[in-house]
Amino acid sequence: MRLDKYLSNLGVASRKETAKAVHAGLVLVNGEVASSADCRVDETQDTVTFCGRKIVWQKFVYLLLNKPAGVLSATEDGRGATVLDLLPEEYRRMGVFPCGRLDKNTKGFLLLTNDGDLCHRLLSPKYHVEKNYLVKAKFPVSNEDLTALEAGLDLGDFQTKPCRAERVDEKTIHLTLTEGKFHQVKRMLEAVHNQVVELTRISFGGIALPDDLSEGDFRPLTESERNTLFAKGNQV
Ligand code: URA
Repeated sequence: MRLDKYLSNLGVASRKETAKAVHAGLVLVNGEVASSADCRVDETQDTVTFCGRKIVWQKFVYLLLNKPAGVLSATEDGRGATVLDLLPEEYRRMGVFPCGRLDKNTKGFLLLTNDGDLCHRLLSPKYHVEKNYLVKAKFPVSNEDLTALEAGLDLGDFQTKPCRAERVDEKTIHLTLTEGKFHQVKRMLEAVHNQVVELTRISFGGIALPDDLSEGDFRPLTESERNTLFAKGNQV
């Protein structure tokens, strides 16, 4: 694998940062100053040091995608583009898949990983991982609606858990859930005689969707974001 790819997969440095550090002689491969950002490293054998820090290779990748509307969060689908089509081929080869689903027209934070165990824990209701949505509604959301959403609603086939619902403006709210049933936000809004016009997931497990990540773009989680998620996946 290319050195700059290796470091960016791990969330250590972007390709540009790697190029700069290599130019400054701050990247070592097996103790030797790296000659270029695109030199090859064997992730299972080679020792890489970046700005004095020894880098430890991990076989798992954790990507944060700002999912655009119109793309399916499935691994493959005959009916159209999936989130995996937004990633370079090498991630698909590493077995990356979306951790949970957003509806086709929902935008925002989607974790993509090949760490099935962590994903399973993050999606399990046992771990109460928070998902925060920005919900634009068709009609004004009253205080009574907010109270009803927070208390938990009977959706016929299931009862939603208590959650947080906060007003942003007359027709926009923040909804923070610790569960993720199929079409849950849309169905909750329908249960209070309203309709979702636009839905964006703005945080997941305590990690906010970064302002500088455009729709359709992705980046590896930083080390501190990864640690936040691992901590969430350990708290029952
Ligand atoms: N709730 C929904 O209704 N849709 C989503 O995509 C996510 C949560």
